[in-house]
Amino acid sequence: MGIESRFIWMDGKLVPFDDAKVHVLSHTLHYGLGVFEGIRSYRQPDGAGGVFKLDEHVRRLMDSAKMCRMEIPFTKEQIRDACLETLSANEMPEAYIRPIVYFGEGSMGLGARNNTVHLTVAVWNWGRYLGEEGIRNGIRVQTSTFTRHHVNSNLQRAKVIGHYVNSILARYEANDNGYDEAIMLDGAGYVAEGTGENLFVARDGVVKTPPVVNILGGLTRRTVIEVLQHEKIPVHEMHFGRDALYVADEVFLSGTAAEITPVREVDRREVGKPGPITRRVQEVYGEGVRGGVDWMKSYVTRF
Ligand SMILES: Cc1ncc(COP(=O)(O)O)c(C=O)c1O
Repeated sequence: MGIESRFIWMDGKLVPFDDAKVHVLSHTLHYGLGVFEGIRSYRQPDGAGGVFKLDEHVRRLMDSAKMCRMEIPFTKEQIRDACLETLSANEMPEAYIRPIVYFGEGSMGLGARNNTVHLTVAVWNWGRYLGEEGIRNGIRVQTSTFTRHHVNSNLQRAKVIGHYVNSILARYEANDNGYDEAIMLDGAGYVAEGTGENLFVARDGVVKTPPVVNILGGLTRRTVIEVLQHEKIPVHEMHFGRDALYVADEVFLSGTAAEITPVREVDRREVGKPGPITRRVQEVYGEGVRGGVDWMKSYVTRF
């Protein structure tokens, strides 16, 4: 099944998939100021659906909107309920959930301030974001020639639609060069993140990940850090260059869409098969999102 479902939630009501349209003069379509989320729900052992970190995602959506001066005309409880209602209406216990906040029609131009703010929630089945083979045996990545946003040129903590042009350019470039994904460096040359994932690197049993300065503060990243802490594997949030990737024992990416995706090659330097730390994180994360890990149970909202 592709990107489709029976119903999409638009501004407070469920509408049939084919009727979920927006006007071509919607402000966000022209300038990219809008915010969104990517959330996943997983089938729980008893067959019910369970959304992973729903409250955290809704909070990040509201934070993103606030940073962009967008006033969402719904409360966090209403947004939360909208996600659950859309999943239930589509009878999808396991799905990717995409809330998106955008400016509608009214005025045009960069200074327009009075356009209405809309909220839509769509759900669809989305398998392995970077491929089944990638999850199993690792992907090949390339350091991008595109620099990640400078900390003061955008609001990196916010999940802003327009930010993703930078990601798409990097992803296209990497794919055109025969790689699965791009790794982006920040303005100072330090490793930042993947185009839609955070990054972890392990050497001699110690894990490093870039700090949340000019990267998206991934919720999966936070979960991975907690998993590592539970496993008593040391983890440091620190800056490092691409050289750390070239001599790493293990490299993996984390994200709601990408889940835990191992990296087997960086810029033609072999990292190798997914190692024990990557495998352990994959295992605990995979069980946790499906309600199988005690300390992660509170992250799952059943519906
Ligand atoms: C640029 C970027 N970095 C990292 C992530 C991972 O964030 P999360 O784990 O919250 O999905 C995402 C995905 O939303 C992303 O788009």
